[in-house]
Amino acid sequence: MNYRIALIPGDGIGPEIVREAVKVLDAAGKKYGFTLDYTEVLMGGASIDVHGVPLTEEAVAVAKASDAVLMGSIGGDAATSPWYQLEPSKRPEAGLLKIRKELNLFANLRPAYLYSELKAACPLRDDIIGDGFDMMIMRELTGGLYFGTRSTVEQDGVRKATDTLTYDENEIRRIAKRGFDIARKRRKKVTSVDKANVLDSSRLWRAVVEEVAKEYPDVTLEHMLVDNCAMQLVRDPKQFDVILTENMFGDILSDEASMVTGSIGMLSSASLNETKFGLYEPSHGSAPDIAGKDLANPIATILSAAMMLRFSLDLDEAAGAVEAAVKQVLKEGYRTGDIYSEGCKKVGTVQMGSLIAERV
Ligand code: IPM
Ligand code: MG
Repeated sequence: MNYRIALIPGDGIGPEIVREAVKVLDAAGKKYGFTLDYTEVLMGGASIDVHGVPLTEEAVAVAKASDAVLMGSIGGDAATSPWYQLEPSKRPEAGLLKIRKELNLFANLRPAYLYSELKAACPLRDDIIGDGFDMMIMRELTGGLYFGTRSTVEQDGVRKATDTLTYDENEIRRIAKRGFDIARKRRKKVTSVDKANVLDSSRLWRAVVEEVAKEYPDVTLEHMLVDNCAMQLVRDPKQFDVILTENMFGDILSDEASMVTGSIGMLSSASLNETKFGLYEPSHGSAPDIAGKDLANPIATILSAAMMLRFSLDLDEAAGAVEAAVKQVLKEGYRTGDIYSEGCKKVGTVQMGSLIAERV
């Protein structure tokens, strides 16, 4: 089989980590008998430099015409990069928000998993880690504060800025269903996170999630306020299976969850629409400070590529082989700088990619 993949290397460490993921995908293709045709697409700062905007309509069209999109990371250092002199709607991040919206990628899956080999990198105490933890953050990605109307005005000499947080019940229902579907294949528990003690949007969220839960009697539902959830993630992360939440809360909680696993450099993500189509990217950012130095950890992107094989291309066996190869390399003691601990073998971005590709 042949599949069309849109590749978005992006900015900062993006190009070098995507290169390693392609290396691993091609190795998997050789072994499992499929080929991938890549079309490179510019997004973020890379697109601003060429086209003056962070995402062109042509780029969106290429993404839409593919079977899946694999992305590195976008954005630069806001304090120094000229991209951040532009008005907000022309900055790198606007490209990412636009592609999420245009492709209707409402379901963002962010797994946070503690590899037993990386226990030393986890900042939590041993008694909290226990046998490790394995959760899936299901973040709504095309609604809420990110896409509500906003404005900045000056009234009688006073500057005033407004953002709005809106959800309709259909937006909540479709992400809730996805959350319950995923929970069914895991430990059958959904923690729906909201701020229902204050926000109307959260009260609706809670009501609709309860309705959806009725269709999944085999899955346990609990509700948790977002501030409490932030605390519980470091107090007892083992309690979580699927965390279902709106866009902004999911943005914040997924960074926190990734940190408790020891390195954000390990965490993949998938953003899906109603069909099999998805955009796959690491959960981390573009780390401009280490770009081009062969220091970046390519594993999150490689694991995102594995998610792409599984969710969009139905190549489960190949996906499993990539994940197993990552574990194997960690077991053999190879580490990039971000996950390095004493006694391990320190390697760079390229070598890490090659080691994983060889073990596929
Ligand atoms: C993420 C990022 C983005 C977000 C930024 C870059 C706009 O933080 O994917 O979590 O806030 O969604
Ligand atoms: Mg974020």
